[in-house]
Amino acid sequence: PTIHIITPTYSRPVQKAELTRLANTFLHVPNLHWILVEDSQRRTPLVTRLLRDTGLNYTHLNVETPRNYKLRGDTRDPRIPRGTMQRNLALRWLRETFNANNSQPGIVYFADDDNTYSLELFEEMRSTRKVSVWPVAFVGGLRYESPKVNAAGKVYGWKTVFDPHRPFAIDMAGFAINLRLILFKPQAYFKLRGVKGGYQESSLLRELVTLNDLEPKAANCTKILVWHTRTEKPVLVNEGKKGFTDPNVEI
Ligand code: UGA
Ligand code: MN
Repeated sequence: PTIHIITPTYSRPVQKAELTRLANTFLHVPNLHWILVEDSQRRTPLVTRLLRDTGLNYTHLNVETPRNYKLRGDTRDPRIPRGTMQRNLALRWLRETFNANNSQPGIVYFADDDNTYSLELFEEMRSTRKVSVWPVAFVGGLRYESPKVNAAGKVYGWKTVFDPHRPFAIDMAGFAINLRLILFKPQAYFKLRGVKGGYQESSLLRELVTLNDLEPKAANCTKILVWHTRTEKPVLVNEGKKGFTDPNVEI
């Protein structure tokens, strides 16, 4: 199957570095299709060029998150969804592009632009029949969060401290979905409104599967293959108000 990777991204000083790192990972993965969705009014020249130069198989989309949803200054409001409209646009694109009855086999994975992905992760997700799951490091104030798997290899709960009673207490990086399921449930999207922090993933997954359907990967969820890393914001104080370096040099 083709792995369709959905990545929301937005303009900031580290954007090109993040996307370069991601592309370098994806270049090692066979049969990959990268759906990169910019949170912007237009597709930017920076991202357009970067994608073209990678040689990857990609689709370049954009949708701007309305201002009333956006971050104000540096504050991180957990109730403000990040990347949600972009992921939903990619889901729509998949449904408009592929036919439910005769589409090529595919897997859908949501890969944020700042995380760290092992190559083994992509091999694990390739056999996803409905929804596969695995642990994610550095989320919820823990070394890692993980699905709880019983002796029979079934997921029966969530080893998290933050709200383990969520229907699917799992980070965006912790699951992959078979494309067929996305196509056969055309009404399933991430909810944009009224979603409490940490419930975004559940808002989509509850439309697609039940706990019993989940397929644990990564050696029954005992191996860490993805890290929810976050990039430090670079300190650019010496640029001053007018800017010190040449603004024509792309970073
Ligand atoms: C955590 C989860 O890992 C995300 O999947 C989830 O979207 C987010 O919380 C949330 O629910 O708010 P976190 O590291 O806090 O992630 O979020 P970011 O990595 O800053 O953003 C997630 C994705 O959205 C990234 O790919 C980022 O480039 C993109 N994004 C962020 C936008 O497209 N627009 C924005 O204004 C902010
Ligand atoms: Mn992140």
